[in-house]
Amino acid sequence: MLDIEQKYGIIGKSDAVKEVLSSIEQVAGSDISILISGESGTGKELVAQAIHRLSTRKNRPYIVVNCGAIPSGTIESELFGHRKGSFTGAVEDRKGFFEAADQGTIFLDEIGELPPETQVKLLRVLESGDIIRVGESLPKKVNVRILAATNRDLKQSVMEGQFRKDLYYRLKTISIHVPALRDRREDIPMLAEYFMMEYADRNNLHYKPIAPASLKILENMNWQGNIRELKNFIQSVYVLENTHIIQPETLKEYMRKHSGYLEGIKYDTRFPVPMDRDVEKMERELVLRQLFLLRQDVDEIKNMLRANYRLLEKGQVSLSEIPDRLEKYEKTPVPSGEVFPAHDKTISDMEKELIEQTLEKYHGSKRKTARALKISERTLYRKLKEYDIQI
Ligand SMILES: Nc1ncnc2c1ncn2[C@@H]1O[C@H](COP(=O)(O)OP(=O)(O)OP(=O)(O)O)[C@@H](O)[C@H]1O
Ligand SMILES: [Mg+2]
Repeated sequence: MLDIEQKYGIIGKSDAVKEVLSSIEQVAGSDISILISGESGTGKELVAQAIHRLSTRKNRPYIVVNCGAIPSGTIESELFGHRKGSFTGAVEDRKGFFEAADQGTIFLDEIGELPPETQVKLLRVLESGDIIRVGESLPKKVNVRILAATNRDLKQSVMEGQFRKDLYYRLKTISIHVPALRDRREDIPMLAEYFMMEYADRNNLHYKPIAPASLKILENMNWQGNIRELKNFIQSVYVLENTHIIQPETLKEYMRKHSGYLEGIKYDTRFPVPMDRDVEKMERELVLRQLFLLRQDVDEIKNMLRANYRLLEKGQVSLSEIPDRLEKYEKTPVPSGEVFPAHDKTISDMEKELIEQTLEKYHGSKRKTARALKISERTLYRKLKEYDIQI
């Protein structure tokens, strides 16, 4: 299990994550289709990748199809292929994603977005392994393992008549639910430290440890956009932080600037000691508070070691670099001034920035981002690829 965590980057120590990891382990070896559910940004795509890479199909194609990003008019031909002349623009015979994934795995992301006509055809593939290219009448056999994901409540979609009941029951036989981050808060410090380390490393910057009080704040936030939001948040506060350690004030400053965050905090983490108690009680409370802070420090050190260990496992740092890295966190002050050099921006830079900011605003939701920018989801996908924007 530890192995899956390290190889596929699914980080977390909560029972919920352990359960997801053990389900991955259990189902990976079979050819059964699997439905992965969970809110946006919880890690469904990571789960799908891990299943494929742990399966016997790992050296065969792994095709990801985002059902929400393909216009309903062309989705059938994209999935199943078409015959030359079957519609305007079909200038030659074309294979669809299913044929491209033959012997491998297809990951149908946002399956809840499939139009009803295509849902019927997918059900046929699930039941018989047959596909029919648009414009042809004879079925073709494909050997494809189907993984599907949804951030919608498919049961609700069935009740609303948007998703076929038979397909829903066929898909949900084996399902893996990835819980929301706010339902597994114990994973937050570990993930935050990991993203911090990854970001510093990727950009060749000094690692900035997260102060215990800051970790406490992070733990109590709502994280509507789940892990994706946490990852983006960490990167943003890194840039905002002027000292060598991520201070709670910096988090609060960031939250003030970005609406919607402050109401996410459940309680104040400054622990005021009430003054109306007797002296003995107050002293006890102060000692407890010190113990609590000490434990936070120990946790921070543990997380730092763990994150380094992970980078080591992934081969991103060598063993001999570790002592130096650990020492560096303690001693090296972050150079003052700007983290990134100033430069003249091009229109493309600005467009990229705008897309990134809008994605951040909508916690990584591509649908909402496209709508806000008044472009189609398809165009958004093209631009994400063009600017190499990772979300
Ligand atoms: N347990 C985890 N450990 C480390 N990183 C994670 C974990 N879960 C998710 N991530 C990271 O968070 C981001 C979002 O994850 P992912 O794309 O898998 O979410 P998703 O559930 O597919 O979201 P959506 O429904 O919006 O497509 C990715 O950058 C991913 O690498
Ligand atoms: Mg996804």
